[in-house]
Amino acid sequence: MPKASVADRRAQACARLLHQVHAIIEIEGITPSTLHATKLKLAALAKRLELFPVTDFAAPVAQGRTHPLLVEENDGLGLYLTINMPGKEAAPHDHGIWCVNAGISGRERHIFYRRTDDGSQPGLASIERIGEVIVSAGVGMAMSDHDIHDTEVVGMEPAIGLALYGYSVTRFPSVVWYHPAFGSARATPSRRHPAMA
Ligand SMILES: [Fe+2]
Repeated sequence: MPKASVADRRAQACARLLHQVHAIIEIEGITPSTLHATKLKLAALAKRLELFPVTDFAAPVAQGRTHPLLVEENDGLGLYLTINMPGKEAAPHDHGIWCVNAGISGRERHIFYRRTDDGSQPGLASIERIGEVIVSAGVGMAMSDHDIHDTEVVGMEPAIGLALYGYSVTRFPSVVWYHPAFGSARATPSRRHPAMA
């Protein structure tokens, strides 16, 4: 019998991961505890370096690139390999959907915030820093639907990692971007069908 290709073995491992994640969240729901368990499973997959050779994933010239690994049909989960180049940063934002990351190589700093205003004034928002994680080889992070983070690749190596979201990135709800220096926020349009928003 011919040996399975790296791509086949990667596809099998990704399918197995999502099967395990569904087994966790369908019984217990999305909670900090189940997101933590999901993060550990994603980190275990990220440690299997033989499944993610750099030659299989084109790097961006600058900024970042997201390669779909397994995007479920029927508005299911989205699993991606992300490559963020040195210096790539993102201002504080919340995705409106849970997210789990795990590093393959390189280092990306995530700073977490909590919102401190009551949201009653459109366009205005204040946030306060509450923690930090460096996502690196075998180390992950997890966020609930409305957790806020900013990101920055640190060091001179690209940050390559796995990212799992509660929806595919093409079906994201509104993402809210925060501008703490100005006490303001702006929301991008939802990519979800109005009936499903
Ligand atoms: Fe993000």
